Amino acid sequence: MARDIHKAGSSLPPYFSIDPDAALAELDAPTGTAGFAGIAAACAAGRTDLASRGMNEEGKKELRLFSTWEITRYLIPVAQAHFRRVLKANPDLPQGRSETEGGAKWFTLEEVLRLRAFFAAQGSKAKDYQPYRPEGLPAKMVAVANFKGGVGKTSTAAHLAMSAALDGYKVLVIDLDSQGSMTSIFGGKVDDEWQTAFPLLARHYGEHLRLENQRRLDRGDAPQPLDEALDAAMEMTAQDVIQNTHWPNIDLIGAQLNLYWAEFQIPVWRMAARSWKLWDALTERLEADGVLDQYDVIFIDTPPALGYLTINGLSAADILLVPMGASFLEFDSTGRFFDMLHSTFASIEEGENLAARALGRPGLAFEWDAVRTVITRYDSAQQGELAALMQAYMGRVLSPHKQDFTALIGQAGEQVSGIYEADYRDFNRETYARGRETFDETYAAFKKLLIGVWRREALQEQRAAE
Ligand SMILES: Nc1ncnc2c1ncn2[C@@H]1O[C@H](COP(=O)(O)OP(=O)(O)OP(=O)(O)O)[C@@H](O)[C@H]1O
Ligand SMILES: [Mg+2]
Repeated sequence: MARDIHKAGSSLPPYFSIDPDAALAELDAPTGTAGFAGIAAACAAGRTDLASRGMNEEGKKELRLFSTWEITRYLIPVAQAHFRRVLKANPDLPQGRSETEGGAKWFTLEEVLRLRAFFAAQGSKAKDYQPYRPEGLPAKMVAVANFKGGVGKTSTAAHLAMSAALDGYKVLVIDLDSQGSMTSIFGGKVDDEWQTAFPLLARHYGEHLRLENQRRLDRGDAPQPLDEALDAAMEMTAQDVIQNTHWPNIDLIGAQLNLYWAEFQIPVWRMAARSWKLWDALTERLEADGVLDQYDVIFIDTPPALGYLTINGLSAADILLVPMGASFLEFDSTGRFFDMLHSTFASIEEGENLAARALGRPGLAFEWDAVRTVITRYDSAQQGELAALMQAYMGRVLSPHKQDFTALIGQAGEQVSGIYEADYRDFNRETYARGRETFDETYAAFKKLLIGVWRREALQEQRAAE
């Protein structure tokens, strides 16, 4: 009997009794370098196929429409009957379109934004139709970072960008990850590094080199030549690399594989000009090109590494969000990430402040308005205990809202990216409501930080003016 069971194999784990000749028969020839190109080409073909399914005839992504139910439930807080009455009384306002005679009315996001502006101007002052944004203050920059891969950086940043846009903010998304996931989500077209943030960094270095060269000339020394690439960058502004997306109020600075080149180029520049403050490059260029006045919130997605691009993104940020799962490995690794952040920024400050002290200048001290870790992909049935422990040790640094694991994410791949782009009719209402709720809560926790830091700054300005 016992032998029969063995033969049937039902109780044997699958890694026993593998026949070497059978294994050989299934094996391909060894792979050379060219083999990678073949795999890459197959993936690219599949990707193009997938991508084409979510795009219109011109090969562009298109944002779905929003129904009266969704608008009055999530976007403009008025009763449906009132909403309909106001539209009827104002025939100049967008009236929406319906799929069937007398069916539900659907609106584009542009139309929703127009309607919201109308309700804000006409409606009750007690309701906050438009989100808080103190006048005259620059946009807030938000970096989403963790050197651990796959913790939900891009998903979190993309969903926050979309919820901020739905809320009425004008949003810029900067993809600093050469994997370009964020760029795919927003349907960006990037041919090479010249359509990424790279030329902004190059120009910042070029400007520095020009100043240095002036000093050299003044001293009678020979100037350092600007190479062709730097010359080209000196002509470029942020407007040259910002592209529109299928969201009317989200713009993008995209990324592509070549952006990785920056990780090699930046240290070479820094070697050539030791006094170049590479960590200021992104902020100062965005500032100089007026970008901080054109947007309300800027989200920066970073690669799973603490390279030069990430350092630039982190030092540009006012708010730093660090996503991580409630697992031992992610908690452990996130702790090490903060360790690395500490030593990296401390060593930059130390290096700068040695020189500053010698020259009697004020020293450099990095500062972030707010730093929060955020639990992502949370499974309350399995991870409650670990999450509670993380909360106990991290305290206020850990955002109190845990972002649940939801099947709505990543499900439709390239077609729609996440909850805000999905049509609720494609899901069971319950699943949709739960998925949406967890990302709405993630946004609410973030918005509280955003409004708080803006308010702090507005009050400081007010006091300084008194
Ligand atoms: N709340 C969630 N529920 C379910 N799946 C999620 C959730 N958040 C993220 N994911 C999935 O987890 C995976 C990793 O997410 P994401 O790409 O956002 O991580 P990342 O930190 O940006 O990765 P990388 O380090 O490669 O940049 C993706 O497949 C994504 O769809
Ligand atoms: Mg990512």
